[in-house]
Amino acid sequence: MQLHENFSLKAWNSFGIDVSARYFARFSNWEELEQLKEIIPNKTIENPLILGGGSNILFTKNFDGSILKNVIRGIRLVAETKEHFIVEAGAGEIWHEFVMHCIDHNYAGLENLSLIPGTVGASPIQNIGAYGVEIKDCFHSLDAYHLKDKTVVQFEAKDCLFGYRDSIFKKEFKNQFAILKVRFQLSKQPNLKTSYGIIEQELAKKNISSPSIRDISNAVISIRTSKLPDPKIIGNAGSFFKNPLIAKTSFELLKQTYPTIPGYSTDSPEFVKIAAGWLIDQCGWKGYRKADAGCHALQALVLVNYGNATGSEILSLSHEIIASIQNKFGIELEREVNIL
Ligand code: FAD
Ligand code: EPU
Repeated sequence: MQLHENFSLKAWNSFGIDVSARYFARFSNWEELEQLKEIIPNKTIENPLILGGGSNILFTKNFDGSILKNVIRGIRLVAETKEHFIVEAGAGEIWHEFVMHCIDHNYAGLENLSLIPGTVGASPIQNIGAYGVEIKDCFHSLDAYHLKDKTVVQFEAKDCLFGYRDSIFKKEFKNQFAILKVRFQLSKQPNLKTSYGIIEQELAKKNISSPSIRDISNAVISIRTSKLPDPKIIGNAGSFFKNPLIAKTSFELLKQTYPTIPGYSTDSPEFVKIAAGWLIDQCGWKGYRKADAGCHALQALVLVNYGNATGSEILSLSHEIIASIQNKFGIELEREVNIL
């Protein structure tokens, strides 16, 4: 284990923000995490930031504490029933590589979540989702290390309180645990989800009438690469805001003024999910750029760093966007990205 001091984080966050961490180290199991606590000076080890791929974080200043990068690897089949495989992955596995591993082995369920950046360990934090699937749909359990109590705790799905881009790890257990391993219950018989977005159109384009899980994955990859910026080329953290949930009655009222406003049904019949990208687009932000901070030209929900933007500039742009949406539609946008 190597401890770095005043370590540049530019390559460690997908926005490419040029800040540094007072201390930075990698850990590949909880014992190493404990040892780090002994070598890092007292104050700075309190409340460390557990880092995955840095693809859902906006740094607005230097991090005056310890950043502990999880590099726990390993994928294994831990159990098998008549209908399912239980597959366990180390928290430091790259999410997309794990999804590809599942497809290669015919473990079905995660194919719609192809190409989401980041690590397996971060996937339960905001219950990652895309194209009609969230990890809660295939989640089995996880092991997490309590940073203060020094115990390893197992969480089942019901303990995680998964919601839309939400879990207990963003609420009462925020920053309290390091997730070590995650297990997924994957199907032997695929239950394909093709109705969301343009997956069906994408399959039709390729003349695929009875798709495999790999076909679904490839369709999702094509759709994503056609509109989401690649963080290696343009810094970003995916959707900067969540899609807001509003009362169905408010949605009906808005529809009278804006007949094309996209709204999606939710688990609750009283609420409708609105496409924040559409709201931002309607306010004229799409393609906007001020210095190096901007709103992506193909997907208004994605804020971008064209090179040398600071986190504060991106944050300030997000304030302006929130204010304009509030002003035009009376809807308050909530950020999805973790602001530090
Ligand atoms: P990080 O950014 O490193 O961390 C995010 C948070 O999780 C931090 O609070 C961190 O402390 C915590 N954390 C990370 N690992 C651990 C751990 N092992 N234990 C405890 N806490 C931990 N998200 C979606 O849901 N759907 C999408 O379709 C999607 N598309 C994206 C597209 C692009 C181009 C980009 C850049 C991002 C996208 N995202 C999407 C967001 C991002 O990919 C996910 O939030 C992902 O899970 C973040 O993983 P990470 O490892 O980079 O987490
Ligand atoms: N739209 C516009 N203008 C825009 C962007 C979108 O009018 O600039 C409209 C689209 O035409 C469409 C609707 O908004 O009618 C929804 O757009 P899209 O299908 O691109 O999805 P999204 O709601 O913007 C969400 C997730 C993504 C996820 C996709 C696919 C959130 C906050 N975002 O985006 O997740 O990949 O659906 O399922 O829920 C992320 O969380 O980082 C992320 C990228």
